[in-house]
Amino acid sequence: MMKVLGIETSCDETGLAIYDGSKGLLANELYSQARFHSDFGGVVPELASRDHVRKILPLLDRLLQAAHISENDLDGIAYTAGPGLAGALMVGGAIATSLAFALDIPVIGVHHMEAHLLSSMLEKHSPEMPFLALLVSGGHTQIVNVKSLGDYELLGESLDDAAGEAFDKVAKLLQLGYPGGPIIGNLADKGDCKKYDFPRPMTDKPGLDFSFSGLKTHTRNLVNELDTSNQQVKYDICAGFQEAVVDTLILKCVRALKQTSLESLVVAGGVAANNRLRFKMREKTEKMGVSVFYSRLEFCTDNGAMIAYLGHERLKNGDRGSMSIESYPRWPLENLRQIQNKT
Ligand code: KG4
Ligand code: ZN
Repeated sequence: MMKVLGIETSCDETGLAIYDGSKGLLANELYSQARFHSDFGGVVPELASRDHVRKILPLLDRLLQAAHISENDLDGIAYTAGPGLAGALMVGGAIATSLAFALDIPVIGVHHMEAHLLSSMLEKHSPEMPFLALLVSGGHTQIVNVKSLGDYELLGESLDDAAGEAFDKVAKLLQLGYPGGPIIGNLADKGDCKKYDFPRPMTDKPGLDFSFSGLKTHTRNLVNELDTSNQQVKYDICAGFQEAVVDTLILKCVRALKQTSLESLVVAGGVAANNRLRFKMREKTEKMGVSVFYSRLEFCTDNGAMIAYLGHERLKNGDRGSMSIESYPRWPLENLRQIQNKT
């Protein structure tokens, strides 16, 4: 059985984990730079790369200790090769490739969104393929038909801002800090989502694409009109905005479920941690007889565990990367190597 080290450095989280084919996850370590980027209202790429360099090796030592193994026990290494910030990706790629070279073990660069797609496989309650997936993160909003490992059909995506990005930008408008999703989610609990009108973009048109920039502009206009020094006004804006995003995501998922007749839905990526989305999605899908799957909260946002798991699946099935560092800041999910599942 293989032990695979997973390395995630595509954005502002340094994530490391070891996945063992027979025992499952042996250890998982995460260092988040989010607090450090908060002052800037978003991730500063150059600072992110430097911080990955600073943190990754001490984190690796801690990971090996927690897993009670040495690096010589590793059988393979996987790292996020994209999509993501070019400089940040290079840090994980450089460490992964040089470590694999030194240990003489295989290395593979994997796709960050494929890792999110499969993250719920790390849970006891895990889906079987084929399934429909809603990928909602800071960089992507996509509906994907997951046919088999490596075979993904993109059914719809955001034409502009991603759902998480919209949360982050609205939080910035309201001067709430970064990342915006969890902050808005908490404040929304104290607000009335019906107090102000918010559009549900592109829901009146057929199709499975999204657009969140109009909703963001609508929210900006509202913020300019209202007195946001009043806390209740802020709460009501957060609640109304969140509700509009959640309703839009759910409506498109329901449409895609009907279109594909799939009976399982995976919701993955940072926004999958949103409580309101989980609550309303359950309400809607229960009625349809569709099962919904999530990973545990800490694996919805970026982490090394999903990279280790995906790397393990790909390496086990004979997929191999090369010793040159792969870094693809833009990498379509549909351009992945398909693999024959040998299990
Ligand atoms: O998957 P992720 O950690 O990184 C990317 O691959 O982008 O997703 C981060 C995004 C951020 O935009 C953040 O605001 C959002 O996920 N997010 C949330 C919540 N937790 C994180 N959005 C809404 N509600 C949450 N609870
Ligand atoms: Zn992510």
